[in-house]
Amino acid sequence: MQNKLTIIAGISLIMLSGFTIVKTMPIKNAGYPAFSTEAHRGGRGLMPENTIPAMKNAIDLGVTTLEMDTHITADGQVVLSHDEYINPLFSITPDGKEIGKEEAKNLILYKMKYDELKKYDVGSKFYSKFPKQKKLKTYMPLLSELIDSVQAYIKVNHKKQVFYNIETKCSPAGDGVYNPGPDEFVEKLMAVLVQKKILPYVVIQSFDKRTLQIIHKKYPEVRTSFLIENKKSFEDNMSDLGFTPFILSPAYKLVDADLVKKCHDAKVKVLPWTVNTKEEIELLKALGVDGVITDYPDLY
Ligand code: G3P
Ligand code: CA
Repeated sequence: MQNKLTIIAGISLIMLSGFTIVKTMPIKNAGYPAFSTEAHRGGRGLMPENTIPAMKNAIDLGVTTLEMDTHITADGQVVLSHDEYINPLFSITPDGKEIGKEEAKNLILYKMKYDELKKYDVGSKFYSKFPKQKKLKTYMPLLSELIDSVQAYIKVNHKKQVFYNIETKCSPAGDGVYNPGPDEFVEKLMAVLVQKKILPYVVIQSFDKRTLQIIHKKYPEVRTSFLIENKKSFEDNMSDLGFTPFILSPAYKLVDADLVKKCHDAKVKVLPWTVNTKEEIELLKALGVDGVITDYPDLY
């Protein structure tokens, strides 16, 4: 039903008390894939994570959905990154040097301006966790640039429109240190999504229930996905969140037939992560999940 409902979006922004309020106008949610095949961080088993080349590669492999993580920079921009700092495991300095572990702790995205962040190479260094990952010089993109690149790639190559599963990487402990407060995070993210007119194809996911609660309250028809890695019951997780999300997205080991039934009875989709073998993907499909998130989008 949700795809038939109108969702809020808009094109005008108002500055008020230091915050950007995203003004909205009605648009329609697109029909969600019957089975969402998702490239985790663009498919980091194959390409440098959370980068434009990774997302294009995932589109070439035919995924329905691009999974990605977002942070806010010191100058208030929405950038793609899983980690709150520049990760020394797969990044090198602008002049090609290794980054020490201690040094990395000071390279906090929320404390750095985007122009500075963009100079780091996040794709050339061998990443032992993903030995098959293609090596190429690339950078952390802004969400706005990523959307522009993906949409242009789809158009030029006559690909099917993909969905965007976008995570807000924030937490109460990180407020003011690694991330702004949840209201500011949501408004900055929504401003980009509204400006790019992409909301019908967006799901916003988070472990931080605060961002989802804000979206539900202020933009109730934007699809949300609650990430969980806990052993609480379905009912307790729903009660913690305080509303029924479009998707419940558990660590895949937590998924069983009972959880799938409870979700479906409540009209909630089940989207496990991060499933990295063909056998496990098939087992989860047999349990009736509504999609799978994998580092290896060539497994679908
Ligand atoms: O989308 C689910 C998954 O991405 C959550 O884990 O830590 O890889 O962002 P993480
Ligand atoms: Ca993620």
